[in-house]
Amino acid sequence: LEERIQEECRFLTDAFRDEQGNPFNPHLKINSAVSNVICSITFGNRFEYHDEDFQNLLRLMDETVTLHGKIMSQLYNAFPSIIKYFPGSHQTIFENWRLMKGFVKEKISKHKEDLNPSESRDFIDSYLQEMAKPNGSDFCEDNLVACTLDLFFAGTETTSTTIRWALLFMAIYPEIQARVQAEIDAVIGQTRQPALEDRDKMPYTNAVIHEVQRKGNIIPFSLPREAMKDTVLAGFHLPKGTIVVPNLSSVMLDKKDWETPHSFNPEHFLKDGQFWKREAFMPFSIGKISCSLMLLCGSTGMGLLAAQ
Ligand code: HEM
Ligand SMILES: *[C@@H]1O[C@H](CO)[C@@H](O)[C@H](O)[C@H]1NC(C)=O
Ligand SMILES: *[C@@H]1O[C@H](CO)[C@@H](O)[C@H](O)[C@H]1NC(C)=O
Repeated sequence: LEERIQEECRFLTDAFRDEQGNPFNPHLKINSAVSNVICSITFGNRFEYHDEDFQNLLRLMDETVTLHGKIMSQLYNAFPSIIKYFPGSHQTIFENWRLMKGFVKEKISKHKEDLNPSESRDFIDSYLQEMAKPNGSDFCEDNLVACTLDLFFAGTETTSTTIRWALLFMAIYPEIQARVQAEIDAVIGQTRQPALEDRDKMPYTNAVIHEVQRKGNIIPFSLPREAMKDTVLAGFHLPKGTIVVPNLSSVMLDKKDWETPHSFNPEHFLKDGQFWKREAFMPFSIGKISCSLMLLCGSTGMGLLAAQ
């Protein structure tokens, strides 16, 4: 994973350098870079940033995320059996899903053609090998398509938005940016790529990345979850089927936990010059169902910040 992130960081910084110091909007390039990391894990290859199929996939994902906020999509979620007959943004979402599934299915067919049972190039290979095992009946192709798209949806917008918050905070607070730069220069220098193992030697940069995630607070209500059986939680009785929506802001902006909850202040994560892990830091939510790919996200941010 780390090597693939490092490789992609090289392409992204090259794309930034191509702008020759002129102002530009980094949004699309960052999205492409983050998606490419997920592409190399799932499909075994990355795409050139201007590749037509790739840009098309990114556009579909972006549009689908946006359309979920529209009124017809919300109405469909509340009254699916009626609203499915109406025209509107929810129909575009269905069409987009069909296209994105088609993209992944085509990748799977190509993988089947040259599958080597004793070697795995990527997630799709590993999944296909699992399907071929005698007890592989829990694994099926529809599920492979769904899991692959899951990784794209869960991983792209989140990581990309976090990196853009990081760039914004570094632009707004040049003194903080300068301290991060000084730590990068001292620990990594200008000749090699940053690596995960550098993190422990970079308490200030680590604190800044954590503060970006705390203050950025990009998924304030985490994901909705459902009680699978009657449950008692913090003294509340939750009957089976209750939807639970956690409020992460109530923890990440709590004035009982944070000295200056509404300021961007990396000191929240520093004690005596060392990195200070805080229990109230939970941008990935907490517990068994929390985001399982914190490592990927953390190190991507690290690499990109350092490259900057
Ligand atoms: C800054 C980056 C990210 C943030 C802030 C983030 C945050 C979250 C949050 C809050 C959840 C809900 C957890 C819960 O319900 O308790 C979640 C779930 C999930 N995340 Fe992330 N995530 C990030 C990056 C990624 C990446 C890069 C991937 C994969 C490539 C990923 C894959 C997933 C998956 C698959 C789930 C669903 C887990 C499940 O339903 O069991 N996330 N993430
Ligand atoms: C497949 O499942 C059966 C029954 O659960 C079990 O006895 C057997 O060891 C399994 N085989 C493999 C290869 O996991
Ligand atoms: C979530 O928590 C924040 C911060 O405590 C609070 O301002 C907000 O009203 C809460 N939202 C809901 C829906 O309870």
